[in-house]
Amino acid sequence: MSTPVILITGAAGGLGSAIAKRFSQSRWRVTATDVDKAGLHALNALVPLDFSATTDLRSAANCQELIAEVMVATGRLDAVINAAGVWREGPVERFGEEDFDLVMGVNLKAAFYISQAAIPHLRENRGCIVNIASDAGRRAYRGSAAYCASKAALVMLSKTLALELAEHGVRVNTVSPGDIATPMLDYQAERYGKGNPSAYKRALLRDYPQGREARFLRPEEVAELVWYLCQPQAEAITGADLAIDFGLSAGK
Ligand SMILES: NC(=O)c1ccc[n+]([C@@H]2O[C@H](COP(=O)([O-])OP(=O)(O)OC[C@H]3O[C@@H](n4cnc5c(N)ncnc54)[C@H](O)[C@@H]3O)[C@@H](O)[C@H]2O)c1
Repeated sequence: MSTPVILITGAAGGLGSAIAKRFSQSRWRVTATDVDKAGLHALNALVPLDFSATTDLRSAANCQELIAEVMVATGRLDAVINAAGVWREGPVERFGEEDFDLVMGVNLKAAFYISQAAIPHLRENRGCIVNIASDAGRRAYRGSAAYCASKAALVMLSKTLALELAEHGVRVNTVSPGDIATPMLDYQAERYGKGNPSAYKRALLRDYPQGREARFLRPEEVAELVWYLCQPQAEAITGADLAIDFGLSAGK
């Protein structure tokens, strides 16, 4: 079999780049996209990329164009990881349309149209899709309605796709991490921490059942689960939403 090819969206981000490293270590050919051009450049210094493109994925046309470019560059596609994502918070009463469209556009619409464009190519290789959702798609948090709704919708998009593609041997799952130590978490704490980002982070950790032992996930831990889901041993896993959150979403 020729070397498998993965496409990672949000590849310049904390989780996306960890996923790129994990698959590269196992000799997959890695293709990457992000809006962050400098971040993609930095990734390319660490991970040999077969193809990369700076693309805003909030448009269906951009998603289609990107998949077409990946196919020209590599000739095949075996796995797609939709890891691009944004966080915005604020109560529904004061949440602006621009932020709502941004959150839905990156977290949900991009995954929908990237998946749609990738389907014919994934069918050829009985490939797979992993969408990165969140604990916030499994339980509600005050002040995060748009983000929670986008991730819950992503889970249902994935389950529906799993049903539609099962007869073609294409598997689709979501991974729902708790808080991961990435630039997104730093951004949340800086922007919404009312001048005290450390207190914002400590408050997040207080929610975990581990108490004083609670910690944030490392992106590599999540990347390992994504890796497993793309292996033949995971053949029975499709339509699943796998939590990796220390039990955060299990209940209070
Ligand atoms: N960090 C966390 O605590 C956490 C927890 C649960 C789920 N997640 C999810 O994990 C995924 C990865 O997040 P991360 O923590 O690595 O954050 P990150 O901010 O480090 O990475 C997200 C990447 O998405 C890219 N992106 C943003 N808008 C885009 C657009 N319009 N088009 C293309 N790319 C765009 C960003 O440039 C960034 O590189 C996201 O879907 C996020 O929602 C993160």
